[in-house]
Amino acid sequence: MAGIVVVGTQWGDEGKGKYIDILSEDADYVVRFSGGNNAGHTIVYDGMKFAMHLIPSGILRKNVTCIIGNGVVVDPKVLLSEISNLKEREIEMATLYVSDRAHMIMPWHIELDNLQEERRNKTGSGLGTTKRGIGPAYTDKAERSGIRMGDLMDAETFKQKVYDVIEIKNAIIEKVYGGTPLDADKIIEEYLAYAEQLKPYVRDVNAIIHRALEEEKTVLFEGAQATFLDLDFGTYPYVTSSNPIAGGVCTGAGVGPRMITSVLGVMKAYTSRVGAGPFVTELVDETGDKIRELGHEYGTTTGRPRRCGWLDAFMLKYAARINGLTGLCMNHLDTIGKLDTFKLCVGYKLDGKLIDYYPSNLKELERCEPIYEEFEGWKDIDISKMRRFESLPVEAKRYIRRIEEIIGVPIKYIGVGPGREQTITM
Ligand code: GDP
Ligand code: IMO
Ligand code: MG
Repeated sequence: MAGIVVVGTQWGDEGKGKYIDILSEDADYVVRFSGGNNAGHTIVYDGMKFAMHLIPSGILRKNVTCIIGNGVVVDPKVLLSEISNLKEREIEMATLYVSDRAHMIMPWHIELDNLQEERRNKTGSGLGTTKRGIGPAYTDKAERSGIRMGDLMDAETFKQKVYDVIEIKNAIIEKVYGGTPLDADKIIEEYLAYAEQLKPYVRDVNAIIHRALEEEKTVLFEGAQATFLDLDFGTYPYVTSSNPIAGGVCTGAGVGPRMITSVLGVMKAYTSRVGAGPFVTELVDETGDKIRELGHEYGTTTGRPRRCGWLDAFMLKYAARINGLTGLCMNHLDTIGKLDTFKLCVGYKLDGKLIDYYPSNLKELERCEPIYEEFEGWKDIDISKMRRFESLPVEAKRYIRRIEEIIGVPIKYIGVGPGREQTITM
């Protein structure tokens, strides 16, 4: 039996989708357990590019069954359009199931996400959300006024739930934010049409996951977002509204911790972040711009330019602990080597003193100074076709070994390009 968890270790977009696609060659199931279509996971193979937002990144492998777990918030419209995009591209999809326990993103969640951001932006406290309704949908789940995929499968239950909540939602939209109220009947008509199309996919997926684990199958749990966007352990409030850390698998897919056999943390050879919030090693200069251009660092979901900076191994050490990482998957080694020189943050000084914890207090975090070590790039050597660690330039090897030493976790895979095959297995 193998329950392999793949999580983001930074602020997202580390290349989780690429590793799920690679690892699913030898897997039986791929399960998304958190987030929603705020995620954007890129898969590149045979010159084709796919951006998955809700559907697990194992979908291109016919040997696996893909599952959207209960911890995910599902926008049915987005899910259907992803399915039809794949069909249009004549992709023979893996089997797909969606949990009947997964909460749905409703039109009021998207409306409120937009209105809340607009209001926060006025006071300079905008979070830079993806405006996909994620925060408001998880809020309703916790408030117990959410509507689940299973509810949509029964027209009467669904209608009743919409009528129950729409009044209060419209009052908030109109009276608190000055927005335009939504029409319940229109929403019901729209969603019941989705229900017809989604019926074949919706079921009690927890039973399927447990059967798979009992039958000694390999199950990959695909993380979305990342450790520093985690609602509890990220840079709150500049986080998402779910638990994308490895622990989120237990609640977001309904499996006990003993079912998890390994935890892979995906990282880049530098750091990026989309949206607002602290970023200790950020480069707000032409080097940051250069990394953005070299790494094509523009959001897969919103197209926003990603903020870029040096790799922060101190931050990764914390991620290794929080997730119980057993291995690391590092991407963009090709990108960082194109610089003349680059830096690695190996620790933080707070008010002049070395610290051994990642501050939860954002004011403290702002005062942290990164301690750097410098490395030489290898821009005259093209590593994108290399497939063995031994072939890499000496400085690249030194960088990798130093990162492993600081974090205390082995690097198991190295990405030297976006393609499925552009990977070095250690
Ligand atoms: P995810 O959200 O964690 O799945 O990551 P994204 O797909 O949002 O962003 C990762 C980006 O980096 C995508 O454009 C990938 O195609 C690209 N990528 C992944 N690994 C590598 C790599 O090793 N080298 C290069 N140059 N690009 C990579
Ligand atoms: P993947 O899975 C990068 C960020 C948003 C914003 C914050 C809150 O592709 O790595 P939300 O819409 O979730 O309420 O936004 O979280 N964010 C991501 N950043 N990659 C993601 O997903 C993200 N999902 C959310 O930019 O700062
Ligand atoms: Mg992404």
